[in-house]
Amino acid sequence: MIIYFSGTGNSGYVAHKIQSVTNDQLISLQRVFRSGQNKGKTYHSEQPFVFVCPTYAWRIPRIVENFILNNNFTGDMRVYFLLTCGSEVGNAVHYVKKLCEKKGFDFMGFEAFIMPENYAALFDCPTKQEAKDILLRAKPEIENIATLINEQRSLKEHKARTKFLSHINGFFYAICVRTKPFTVTSRCISCGKCAERCPLQTIKMQGEPKRPKWGKQCTHCMACICGCPTGAIEYGKHTEEKPRYFLGDQYLIGENK
Ligand SMILES: Cc1cc2nc3c(=O)[nH]c(=O)nc-3n(C[C@H](O)[C@H](O)[C@H](O)COP(=O)(O)O)c2cc1C
Repeated sequence: MIIYFSGTGNSGYVAHKIQSVTNDQLISLQRVFRSGQNKGKTYHSEQPFVFVCPTYAWRIPRIVENFILNNNFTGDMRVYFLLTCGSEVGNAVHYVKKLCEKKGFDFMGFEAFIMPENYAALFDCPTKQEAKDILLRAKPEIENIATLINEQRSLKEHKARTKFLSHINGFFYAICVRTKPFTVTSRCISCGKCAERCPLQTIKMQGEPKRPKWGKQCTHCMACICGCPTGAIEYGKHTEEKPRYFLGDQYLIGENK
């Protein structure tokens, strides 16, 4: 069973690539979170579990970690973790291994793929051409890992390079993950796509004409700002006139096959 979370499509792309080789069941956490059924369920798989998600502050996203902690997994307890990142995953593997111990998973491997940066709120996203080139470079690596997973082989040990970075994770959530700086400009066409994509349903379309309003709960997945078809959403001053990165809706929700 491949369980994935994706804000802007990178991790969804990886999950779909793995699925195209293993033919395994695909579960979108975006869909699970939006349905509100994110706790107390049992996920049973006859094949190893594969979790695919972005890197948030050098670890797996907190909402993905909580999902794993708060649900039950049965069947083939071997597990792979595949992370997408803009450049560096720090010591994410260490925390993943601890999580596996807690949940009784049999750790089969961890891999990180460098994909286009999507953290528009704090960093610079690539241009369309740069993103295309980065994806092209990542493709053979993803295909190689898909083959290994299909053969149920252990992955090569992942060597963490910049371990100290992952310590900043708690600080990052406390300080950086806020919704207040999100604003919407007159380019908004009231399509509501930002609200439709928000995994935590924190965005509500309000007023006349309808405009997005952010609640407090947010994981900074960037689906709203990066996916906006008219580039109408800003995050403070940082995002003005800057490119956004969004790969496609089919990689966020996909089919729960
Ligand atoms: C909140 C947030 C934190 C991020 N932290 C990191 C990080 O620590 N290291 C890194 O290389 N990329 C980081 N990124 C970039 C994403 O991990 C990367 O672009 C990822 O492929 C996005 O996946 P998605 O399209 O499936 O959402 C971060 C992005 C966001 C939105």
